Amino acid sequence: MEKQQKSGHLVLVMAPFQGHLTPMLQLATILHSKGFSITIVHPELNSLNPSNHPEFTFVPIPDKIKESQLSDEDLADKLKESLVSTVDVAGSVQSLNKNCAAPLKKCLENILHSHHHIAAVIYDTLMFCAQTIVNDLGLPGITLRTSSATTLLLFPVLPQLGEKELMSGIESPELQALQLQRLRALIVQNPTQAMMEVRAAFTNAMKFSSAIIVNSMEFLELEALSKVRQYFRTPIFIVGPLHKLAPAICGSLLTEDDKCTSWLNKQAPKSVIYVSLGSIANIDKQELIETAWGLSNSKQPFLWVVRPGMVCGSEWIESLPNGFEENVGERGCIVKWAPQKEVLAHGAVGGFWSHCGWNSTIESICEGVPMLCRPFFGDQLLNTSYICNVWKIGLELQNLERGNIERTIKRLMVDMEGKDIRKRAMDLKKKAALCLMEDGSTSSFNGLIKQITVSET
Ligand code: UDX
Repeated sequence: MEKQQKSGHLVLVMAPFQGHLTPMLQLATILHSKGFSITIVHPELNSLNPSNHPEFTFVPIPDKIKESQLSDEDLADKLKESLVSTVDVAGSVQSLNKNCAAPLKKCLENILHSHHHIAAVIYDTLMFCAQTIVNDLGLPGITLRTSSATTLLLFPVLPQLGEKELMSGIESPELQALQLQRLRALIVQNPTQAMMEVRAAFTNAMKFSSAIIVNSMEFLELEALSKVRQYFRTPIFIVGPLHKLAPAICGSLLTEDDKCTSWLNKQAPKSVIYVSLGSIANIDKQELIETAWGLSNSKQPFLWVVRPGMVCGSEWIESLPNGFEENVGERGCIVKWAPQKEVLAHGAVGGFWSHCGWNSTIESICEGVPMLCRPFFGDQLLNTSYICNVWKIGLELQNLERGNIERTIKRLMVDMEGKDIRKRAMDLKKKAALCLMEDGSTSSFNGLIKQITVSET
């Protein structure tokens, strides 16, 4: 990306999770190419290697969060317990904000002291403590939402609406297909003190921020976006897909295993089902076994990401059933972490069995790959509704039993039904490509930069 002349100094505050730090890094890269100098302030947990990104200044701040407190297994177990609203996740996000607030303030004061000027502080919505701090320091705060724009309705809007208001507010087919009533019911159900505090702080931060940046595309969430804009006065900039605007950036916390590329090169076009459940979700041994037999019996080639520790009680894949590897032979490839964006862009990949995290969802859309949805928690449920009911580019895997898995893979990869789904996925890919043109994300970025410049003066 070509670099322009210097336009000011920005401080970006990262949240320490894979699905959050990659888009923030991509945003940093794009803003740097527009001439901004960038400092990235980040909790110590899950730190990136600064030497891979010499164009940025990295400043770690102590978070006092023990690795184990937010470890994949621990977190995923807690997340599974209560879907959208979870006791412990709220508690962890709350601790992160409480522990980081003082060091973040000190850090911003030090930067102000040495640079004299900060054009804006851009923080991940999960690091909402930043907004109170920038209010105190008289700096503009801009928040980055790494999930869909529709998620902005979840905490600040849905719980406040009565049943009647909700029903009259979701008259369009897009909004009806999202099953917002179901999500609202989950949100309002027995919230704990920590949840209520986190939601209030999140909502407050949204209210006081000078702008909200969303890694999405207007055409994906048209109706919901008009609702979001109705409820928020803050300017909203839809700037995605960030990974296409900053394609060279790799923010993986785990090492990508490139052997899958040579394996993919040997497979027939659109024949491979790629299976990956993102960076947090965990499964139990039974699900591993059903998945293994479902994949094996489907007779489709598959590339399967099993993160170390992803299967509860196992180190890696030692719980795979006897006979599975012999049955599958060269037809299957299992890795610990894949170069996902390259995998999805590979001509051999014809389907993506996904947990439907937002990054995976837009990466799949941009390559026209239809999806098999196996959501676990949070926004993954909403994304699944978009994929299966609104865009109609995927099927939901509702029963994780080997026979059903085999049938659903065939429906997507082989049957007529799958061909229609693939066609719609390819149509969305074209629309996504158009979004990268002048009047899409580029014009949104121009608006954002104007906003930063206005806030500065
Ligand atoms: C989390 C939540 O699960 C998700 O619901 C929310 O939208 C964002 O935060 P995560 O589980 O990390 O996200 O999933 P996702 O948002 O899909 O991000 C995963 C990222 O890791 C993607 O950018 C994907 O390309 C990358 N990845 C995943 C790899 O590079 N290699 C892999 O093997 C798997």
